[in-house]
Amino acid sequence: MLVSAKEMLTKARAGKYAVGQFNINNLEWTKAVLLTAQENNSPVILGVSEGAGKYMGGYKTIVGMVNGLIEELNITVPVALHLDHGSYEGAKAAMAAGFSSIMFDGSHYAIEENIAKTTELVGLTSEKGLSLEAEVGSIGGEEDGVVGAGEIADANECKAIADLGVTMLAAGIGNIHGQYPENWKGLAFDALADIAAATGDMPLVLHGGTGIPEEMIKKAISLGVAKINVNTECQLSFAEATRKYIEAGKDLQGKGFDPRKLLGPGFEAIKATVKEKMELFGSVNQA
Ligand code: 13P
Repeated sequence: MLVSAKEMLTKARAGKYAVGQFNINNLEWTKAVLLTAQENNSPVILGVSEGAGKYMGGYKTIVGMVNGLIEELNITVPVALHLDHGSYEGAKAAMAAGFSSIMFDGSHYAIEENIAKTTELVGLTSEKGLSLEAEVGSIGGEEDGVVGAGEIADANECKAIADLGVTMLAAGIGNIHGQYPENWKGLAFDALADIAAATGDMPLVLHGGTGIPEEMIKKAISLGVAKINVNTECQLSFAEATRKYIEAGKDLQGKGFDPRKLLGPGFEAIKATVKEKMELFGSVNQA
């Protein structure tokens, strides 16, 4: 059964580790993430951007697939199905379809409008027992058409949003979706410390988890980050393993073209990346 992300994130914040949000793209991705979470006895959050939601056939299709896999693969660790960077309308649609957690990304609105819309969604999600993530500042780069300038969040604005009763807060601290450029300045830890001081024990969310050096991840967790989003890194692992298989001509040997074989190395590569992240984030054996 899907659960809200509230309990797993409250425990993570108190225990100084982070739960990974791994974005899913299809059946192989979903199975790989769920099985790895189970094997490592780790709570997990499956992230779905609006673009990936459309790609997979819509929110109801995804809810059906995830619920079916949880039951038939005997997944017993806590799993939240979370809308990533949801619009106001997307948030309502994902809720209606059965998602257990929602991100409303109002960061591109003026703070007053972000507050107004987030307030409304706090009401709607809490009525249904769902968790809600809000965003202040912005995540740099682009993810599925969501473009951000990489604005560092203001601690007072973070407090204003946290006080509305959201479950978790994504704050821009120099993090970027996709791969980090050579000249990236790193995470803004002073800003993170100010945000953590202003928001009490609110679980903070670090987007753009791909390519952040290990020491920065550990420091961010020590300062209050309890959820870390990873998308691109699984895509790169999948693509690299698939490319190697094809370049070695394995798809042309025997029945190597069978999708169950062709997609096998990519599937294993996603599992390895997810396991590595769970170990780094400290969520292993925290289910
Ligand atoms: P990356 O693609 O950089 O890992 O970011 C994922 C993310 O933040 C999803 O919201």
